[in-house]
Amino acid sequence: RSVYVNGDYLPETEARVSIFDRGFLFADGVYEVASVVGGKLLDFHGHTARLQRSLKELELRSPVDMDELLAIHRELIARNAVDEGMVYMQITRGAPGDRDFHFPDPEQVPPTLVMFTQSKQIVASKTAETGIKVISIDDLRWARRDIKTVQLLYASMAKMAAEKAGADDAWMVEDGFVTEGSSNNAYIVKNGKIITRQLGTEILPGITRAAVLKYAAEAQMEIEERAFTVEEAKEADEAFYTSASAFVMPVVSVDGVSLGDGLPGPVSRRLREIYLDEAV
Ligand code: PDD
Repeated sequence: RSVYVNGDYLPETEARVSIFDRGFLFADGVYEVASVVGGKLLDFHGHTARLQRSLKELELRSPVDMDELLAIHRELIARNAVDEGMVYMQITRGAPGDRDFHFPDPEQVPPTLVMFTQSKQIVASKTAETGIKVISIDDLRWARRDIKTVQLLYASMAKMAAEKAGADDAWMVEDGFVTEGSSNNAYIVKNGKIITRQLGTEILPGITRAAVLKYAAEAQMEIEERAFTVEEAKEADEAFYTSASAFVMPVVSVDGVSLGDGLPGPVSRRLREIYLDEAV
């Protein structure tokens, strides 16, 4: 694989970042994951808009402008002949010559930009046909989940807890209400109505979420943006999650309780189809 590091395209085995990089020592950085279908990026402008917001919130700056960023994405897709999959990009606050909690002067320490591709089938998905199982877990992440930081340890722990429990993913719960999935936005469907948490600092504003809600509204589907409890999720007719790497993914059980008939529900299946029709 050819990867990108600070201006250079290199074989992945030759790419180097300093041990003093603040991404490595402090999880001081932001990232984006954009999907690729048929060699084309999906919703790139949504991702760059969110990236710029994340950067601003952390007083970080991108070493390249958004046009250059798009050009690098395209170059990596071409170099690695990615037909379907993802492009991962992260910007960290660079590498001062030592460990220091304070931010370095950006004039002296440039940020580190790293990008790589992952080839993966995402449109044709066996998992989407069977649906996935989630468990609920306390949301113990920091309180600024609207910023897409590389601080993903708790999300990893949540996925490990799900695996241990024989499930596929975890939905996070705070004060009794579901915030979001470990790496996706969470939805339930009750009496035909799509219910998903309103945006705020508690969740990441998903790019796929924005697209799916827009398409659902255009298809005259009923939407309610509000927090829901785990109990409500267990009693829902169906559930699903959205993310750039899975699009619309049906959820068929919550904490071991089957939803509906235990198969992907009609609203989830329809939304996945609409998303694939409109976005891909
Ligand atoms: N995850 N919520 C969280 C906590 C996420 O990490 C993600 C994305 C989402 C969905 O956002 P989007 O629709 O823009 O992908 C929601 C990416 C895919 C990841 O970490 O791999």
